[in-house]
Amino acid sequence: MELFDAITQRRTHRGAFRTDAISQADLDQLIQAAQWAPSPFNTQPWEFLIIREAAGKNALAELTAQSVVDQFKDSTFLDDNRHWIRLTEAEWEERGDGVLLTDHVDLPPMFRKDPSKLKPLLKHAKHLSILGHLGAGKLPAKEISELVRTSPLLILILMDSTRRPPGEGGGRWMWLGMGAAIQNLLLRATALGMGTQFVSASLERQADRERIQEIFNIPNSHEIITLLRLGYLDSIHGKSVRLPPSTVVRYENY
Ligand SMILES: Cc1cc2nc3c(=O)[nH]c(=O)nc-3n(C[C@H](O)[C@H](O)[C@H](O)COP(=O)(O)O)c2cc1C
Repeated sequence: MELFDAITQRRTHRGAFRTDAISQADLDQLIQAAQWAPSPFNTQPWEFLIIREAAGKNALAELTAQSVVDQFKDSTFLDDNRHWIRLTEAEWEERGDGVLLTDHVDLPPMFRKDPSKLKPLLKHAKHLSILGHLGAGKLPAKEISELVRTSPLLILILMDSTRRPPGEGGGRWMWLGMGAAIQNLLLRATALGMGTQFVSASLERQADRERIQEIFNIPNSHEIITLLRLGYLDSIHGKSVRLPPSTVVRYENY
């Protein structure tokens, strides 16, 4: 696969994967791709915790489910979400950013045909937390935790803070290196026919991150940067949108 094709065809895959395990040869390539990313002073601050056994998957699935249930009760979180939720494909395409609601949750039948009916609800997203307290988060929580539990492969991406580069900006530069490594991994996964998804819910809260450190015996020197789920797909597909390039480029002067 051409590099540019991998870049543009990579999609966040929010559905199930094929059930076959990721081969060790392919996994080695993912890690190698990540390792060849640039990093400040060539510090290479990344480490990869590979999870293939049920125990680890179940623990992360459980934490994911609980955090999604809690997010649906969190009025600030819901209100922040509203700016980036697009109700219809037409709106999503026109705006060129954000996420399509129906890619993330299965809507109740009354909204399925015309999700734009949700607009007034979204306007007062803060109030949706009442529904959250009534248990509205349980279904999406079950769906995403099931996807985590059944993924052939999960990777916890860690940053070793002892490998911090010198200088005041060291922390920032380390994060940039982490981003480069993760993108390299995602692109290699795409080229190898895999789908990938960031699963952030269980890493939002400090207490949950600490729990994950404990469960997986991750030393305090290591920060959990993200959780990825991966698996082979029969075909790479899915839609996404981007802003027109002209809106993000400035020439010579802002
Ligand atoms: C740091 C980060 C966290 C993300 N967290 C999630 C997540 O928790 N769940 C999810 O479905 N997608 C997550 N995404 C994926 C984005 O929603 C996705 O990249 C964006 O909507 C563009 O879609 P595309 O990746 O298919 O092009 C995350 C992406 C990044 C970079």
